[in-house]
Amino acid sequence: MADHPLATREEHPLPASLMHWTHLLSIAVLTFTGFYIHWPFFEGAMGVMRNLHFVFAFILIAVLVIRVYWAFLGAGSAPTGSRRKIRDYKFFGPQKENRGTLGGTLKYYLFLQKEAPTVSKYNGLQKATYIFWGLLIVVQAITGFELWTPTASALLPLTYALGGVIVVRMYHYLIMWVFLVTTALHIYLAVMHWDEFMMMFFGVKTRPRGAAAPSPSPAPERTP
Ligand code: HEM
Ligand code: HEM
Repeated sequence: MADHPLATREEHPLPASLMHWTHLLSIAVLTFTGFYIHWPFFEGAMGVMRNLHFVFAFILIAVLVIRVYWAFLGAGSAPTGSRRKIRDYKFFGPQKENRGTLGGTLKYYLFLQKEAPTVSKYNGLQKATYIFWGLLIVVQAITGFELWTPTASALLPLTYALGGVIVVRMYHYLIMWVFLVTTALHIYLAVMHWDEFMMMFFGVKTRPRGAAAPSPSPAPERTP
């Protein structure tokens, strides 16, 4: 997260915010229903939970496809503090503006350095996390379809190669935990960068937490 001219709407345009909201909701529902399928903690809702799981699985996959399409061919988004949009996919790969900042970013996250290095929009760890999540959703979709009755038989060779249905089910479950842990970190860091959070979620421009309000302009001097 860049430190820090204030976040702009162009940095998090409405389509990106809406897709982020949808991803968040889908992951939340998939985690809740997934937990229930794994360990039904109250009675009588398995049918509803499984149906919800499949509906939101399809929503998650559809929005991932649209998000990738938008990153390459959409109207683009801007670096932090700027209103000038460029193609959004560029923020997910190496950027010359970020050169040499990875070490500083790591030190900042390990509490070895006070200030985060200034980056264009996302730092290297954010970029890696976002791409990792995209891949993880693909793996979750494949293992999920291996477990889903209508598609299971088509994927049987893969299921055997991985060690059988129980093993696939275990991978699917463990990957949920990877999502939970990494999303918890993502939430913590997002809330620390309050203005990015408010812009991304609500399109509201605000100051970073704890930042001083801009000092009012001095009163014009009176000539006697
Ligand atoms: C992306 C597409 C996904 C598909 C197609 C899918 C599909 C499935 C299917 C078919 C099952 C088995 C249901 C049953 O046994 O009746 C299942 C279980 C489960 N899913 Fe998903 N799922 C997907 C994504 C996710 C995600 C993103 C999460 C969590 C972050 C998740 C968490 C779980 C959990 C925890 C279970 C229970 C596993 C167990 O019994 O140990 N799923 N899913
Ligand atoms: C309550 C939960 C969440 C909060 C508070 C949150 C907050 C944020 C914020 C503030 C940003 C902008 C970061 C910046 O500009 O520096 C962001 C970006 C992002 N988040 Fe989340 N997030 C949450 C859940 C999720 C989930 C569940 C996913 C998907 C698995 C996700 C995926 C992403 C991605 C891919 C980006 C970067 C791409 C984009 O800007 O659309 N987030 N998040």
